[in-house]
Amino acid sequence: MKIEVLFSPVQADELFFTKKTTVVIDVLRASTTIITALTNGAKEVVPVGTVEFAVKVSGGMFGGQTLLGGERNTKKIEGFALGNSPSEYKKEIISGKTIVFYSTNGSRAIVKAKYSGKLFMCAFNNLKALAIHLVKLNEDVIILCSGNNNLLSLEDSVCAGKLISELMKDNQEIILSDSSKGAFALFKNFGKDIRKMLGETEHGQLLINNGFKDDLTLCAELNSTEVIPYSTGNVLKVLR
Ligand code: MLT
Repeated sequence: MKIEVLFSPVQADELFFTKKTTVVIDVLRASTTIITALTNGAKEVVPVGTVEFAVKVSGGMFGGQTLLGGERNTKKIEGFALGNSPSEYKKEIISGKTIVFYSTNGSRAIVKAKYSGKLFMCAFNNLKALAIHLVKLNEDVIILCSGNNNLLSLEDSVCAGKLISELMKDNQEIILSDSSKGAFALFKNFGKDIRKMLGETEHGQLLINNGFKDDLTLCAELNSTEVIPYSTGNVLKVLR
């Protein structure tokens, strides 16, 4: 089982992912929000690459049970029902609903990896459950960090390193690429206090300045759910 880490979606084109097993990470906040939505009973999440496409898709498909969610510059988009704060995705609001979801980095990373044979979402919230599943699968894995505007983001890289450390615990056969060793080293250096690390990242600072400080605490929760979002036909559902 070889693990490769891409620190930003610009490191590969769409076809690179063809038939690969891919894990997409956007700790702040898209993967945390999608995991929360599915944990709280959303039927499915449809990630889209543009706001225009989100509006188009939500129009007639999915039987009227659709909510638009996501952000631009961390804020809720005009006309959308929900922003990108995991705290908004409460059971009573989203249970049974299809969420059409756009975010600056996260949903676009998922769309980029759409040709993957298997695609899973990871955040600190579901890391252990996903590691157990990947060990069972025993396939080579690409970890795709959504990054921050095409650059490396520390929070996604540390989460990738933490996932690698979990995989190493349960699996003697693991082969680490140079990029995996880099992510693992970042986790060792910055991963001791996840909440503190999130608050010191560039995107964490932006979220604090925009009034989303409490989201960092939600995004730092380790192994609070066993829900693994899994893409089937470009729609994310709970892996059963
Ligand atoms: C993104 O996809 O860029 C993020 O989820 C942005 C955010 O924190 O809202």
